[in-house]
Amino acid sequence: MTERVVLAYSGGLDTSVGIGWLKDATGKEVVALAVDVGQGGEDMDDIRQRALDCGAVESIVVDAKDEFADDFLMPALKANAMYQKRYPLVSALSRPVIAKHLAITAKKLGADSVAHGCTGKGNDQVRFEAAVAALAPELTSIAPVRDLALTRDKAIIYAEQHNLPIRQSAANPYSIDKNVWGRAVETGFLEDPWNAPIEDLYEYTQDPSIPRDADEVIITFASGIPVAIDGVQLSALAIIEELNALAGKHGVGRIDVVEDRLVGIKSREVYEAPGAIALIEAHEALEALTLERDLGRFKRGVEAEWSNLVYDGLWFSGLKRSLDVFIDDTQKYVSGEIRLKLQGGRATVTGQKSEQSLYDFSLATYDTGDTFDQSLSKGFIEIWSLPSKISARRDLRG
Ligand code: ARG
Repeated sequence: MTERVVLAYSGGLDTSVGIGWLKDATGKEVVALAVDVGQGGEDMDDIRQRALDCGAVESIVVDAKDEFADDFLMPALKANAMYQKRYPLVSALSRPVIAKHLAITAKKLGADSVAHGCTGKGNDQVRFEAAVAALAPELTSIAPVRDLALTRDKAIIYAEQHNLPIRQSAANPYSIDKNVWGRAVETGFLEDPWNAPIEDLYEYTQDPSIPRDADEVIITFASGIPVAIDGVQLSALAIIEELNALAGKHGVGRIDVVEDRLVGIKSREVYEAPGAIALIEAHEALEALTLERDLGRFKRGVEAEWSNLVYDGLWFSGLKRSLDVFIDDTQKYVSGEIRLKLQGGRATVTGQKSEQSLYDFSLATYDTGDTFDQSLSKGFIEIWSLPSKISARRDLRG
């Protein structure tokens, strides 16, 4: 039986040409697997057919939208996940779910290898291969664009020579990756970090500088997970989609950064993630209301570690699994409602309430009803500053 390879197929130029390249270079039959993570745009059926037209022996589409939202994006939200404080891990989160389906499909169809269309310069190659290694160590990973040094120009020539039905024009200068958590745009004129982004780059967000009336939205959380918008119960996926539309209209979640890739390169990235940013703002506010101070402080350290691991392709690692157990435990009381005002590129928290709230009006108030015994503070501060006082005396003695 001819050996088989399962290719993570996007429908774009590189992976379409990759089907023929893989076949020519390895002699294996190519199975195309397109995973729907809410990237929108083209019909998944058209993508499926294109893979067959490009020479795949089999072409499979998996709708992983709910799985992606429930099992990958919700853990990221609980972790308030941001790489280098700015990037909500849009692409980094989709790779492990795609890799999971590559591994499942390879096992099911008896393939001995998987393939992806990443170059050798980015994080995504690491994420795909590290995830596959963790899930199915017996599989080999092949990266035609990287390992066979297939440039864009070569790809275009190959597609023309073989009459491949690729719509993608050579004119699009950007490298774009998108899913329901957001959109990443790189390359082209953005490679000079002095060049400001232009409106054309954006798809999920409107120009935030255009004056618009504010919108208000109330998000209900149960144990760290958003469960309703304005009182209407919805799935995690539907909530993200709705917030993408609502917050996107106000230009929320535009991000322009120079980011450190795992492979050592600094890269200029433009992101838009309206729903993700609105949800993280809301979730953080609810945590401020419901987590003890030390727990919140320690968790912020864990969040940064979690984000680094996921950025670096270690979704299926022991450390990440253990951090998830900690994070899940912190979410027990993160339930309640957050009101957000959406306007001018910002999602601003304007109201917060929770039955599990640690906010105590009678302790906080400066008006009548104050139950806080201020006289106790005097002694507390005396003891609290004792180490400082003693060491300061020593310093003065010299
Ligand atoms: N730099 C981001 C990351 O590493 C985005 C990568 C986007 N991928 C792409 N092929 N354009 O997660």
